[in-house]
Amino acid sequence: MTENLMLEELFTLRGRLALVTGASSGIGLHAAGLLARAGAKVVLAARRLHAVQTAAAEIAKQYGDANAAHGIHIDLNRLETIPLALDEIERVFGRPADILINNAGIIHFARFLDHDDEAVARIFATNLNGSFAVAREAARRMVKTGGGSIINVGSTAGLRTPGSLAAYGVSKTGLVQLTKIMALELASKKIRVNALCPGNFVTEMHQVFTEHKVDETIVKRIPQRRLGSPDDLDGPILLLASDAGRYMTGTVITVDGGQTLSWL
Ligand SMILES: NC(=O)c1ccc[n+]([C@@H]2O[C@H](COP(=O)([O-])OP(=O)(O)OC[C@H]3O[C@@H](n4cnc5c(N)ncnc54)[C@H](OP(=O)(O)O)[C@@H]3O)[C@@H](O)[C@H]2O)c1
Repeated sequence: MTENLMLEELFTLRGRLALVTGASSGIGLHAAGLLARAGAKVVLAARRLHAVQTAAAEIAKQYGDANAAHGIHIDLNRLETIPLALDEIERVFGRPADILINNAGIIHFARFLDHDDEAVARIFATNLNGSFAVAREAARRMVKTGGGSIINVGSTAGLRTPGSLAAYGVSKTGLVQLTKIMALELASKKIRVNALCPGNFVTEMHQVFTEHKVDETIVKRIPQRRLGSPDDLDGPILLLASDAGRYMTGTVITVDGGQTLSWL
């Protein structure tokens, strides 16, 4: 029963431990700060170890708690780094994460005919194989501790038919399907799995659109007429991560200013 809960309590993450991949910049870095604000201890993961360690130190300082955050190295292109990183989390915090924001990813902007093998392999290795392995390793550990919440960061590029993003779009469609299969198989283990699909957000990744001078065209196709900023994801992330979303699993939430509705 939640009638007597203060609204903050409905969305609180106090007592939780969250792993955020791709936390050295953009959406992941922002999400790590958000989860800490909601009371979780956070582990920030990426290849740029110095960046995640610096961000973790800032979070720890902000909350006056040396154990509030920790930075670790994960390279999705080197799958052996994933279990090592999750072991490190258990060593540092004495338990595995019960929230995973499976967010790390890369993009490749090219027409289909110009996709070379190396770029296609890199996109699939990172966005599919790497994200799959992180989700599986984290879920295996959640099974042992009685459950958790996994948020796979997909993209509206995996839901509609985006031009010049063939490999990226396919990788994100795959992540949505993975989300649904995981949700089906893991519900009995008390693990919820949902996909969060942003539209066009201003981050390092978005630079590729700016370089190809398509910003104006994109904004024209967004009914709300602006690009997203990472804090536009705060509500959905808290909903999916916290007990407020306790009956939600296998859902796909788009956060795109209405872009997927556009007829342009
Ligand atoms: N920005 C958008 O418009 C948008 C829209 C829809 C979906 N998304 C998705 O949102 C997620 C975050 O993207 P973003 O926009 O925040 O872009 P971003 O700032 O470029 O962040 C990408 C993150 O992924 C990490 N990463 C990349 N390759 C990695 C690898 N091999 N191993 C481990 N980490 C790796 C990067 O860290 P290191 O380089 O330090 O490893 C970085 O922290 C991605 O999955 C992206 O597809 C973004």
